[in-house]
Amino acid sequence: MRKNIVAGNWKMNNTFQEAEELISVIADNLDEKELACEVIVCPPSIYLEMSSDYAEESILHIAAQNVSEFENGAYTGEISASMLKAMDVEYCIIGHSERRKYFNETNKQLSEKVGRLLDNSIAPIFCIGELLEERESENHFEVVKTQLNEGLFNLNSDEFSNVVVAYEPVWAIGTGVVASPEQAQEMHSYIRGLIAEKYGAEAAENTTILYGGSCNAANAATLFANPDVDGGLIGGASLKPDDFVKIVESF
Ligand code: PGA
Repeated sequence: MRKNIVAGNWKMNNTFQEAEELISVIADNLDEKELACEVIVCPPSIYLEMSSDYAEESILHIAAQNVSEFENGAYTGEISASMLKAMDVEYCIIGHSERRKYFNETNKQLSEKVGRLLDNSIAPIFCIGELLEERESENHFEVVKTQLNEGLFNLNSDEFSNVVVAYEPVWAIGTGVVASPEQAQEMHSYIRGLIAEKYGAEAAENTTILYGGSCNAANAATLFANPDVDGGLIGGASLKPDDFVKIVESF
């Protein structure tokens, strides 16, 4: 059985004090509630240690937002997968469109990052999704297929069983323009089909596929109600504890 997940991607936001306040309010609000999903927060790397301390005392799980594709050594400014592991990080976002766009991350580089994470028993949350012009020219299925083929499908079945996929249409990220439930379901079902072709029906059934892009407290329930949408990767709304808690409770 695949798990439902709601993950809050804080991106490059919040002071240390604000981050601590945010995670403690979320943890307190979810404490002792019966939840139908796993809850992950993805703080900036400099707050991972503090966040892990809160997670240890709560139901929260911690993800990093990025990792180096190198194992260790002279790579100024980078953070290795083993360093994340030492901070009790369980997941790591890989291939977010902001990293593809502003830091020119390629599918090849992303597949190396995935390898480093799996070597350290950290589960990648692998982001894929098309640009607006790619959807308008009806290339969205092809784009997503290439991202999967080049970034992820080099894994063997065992390795792949640890991966979470996040479909994030770039035109929906931070824009307030959310994919319709039909658009999300159509793409998620296509992605699950590709996974089935590559790794078999059982692996596809067991893979968690998240939706991301302007998902909020008002639209989460209709998105999550789709059979192939197993939760969300939440940006802006994850910085507002009341909204994030509502999204978590949308299952
Ligand atoms: P958003 O971001 O919810 O602010 O659109 C989602 C994401 O980038 O993961």
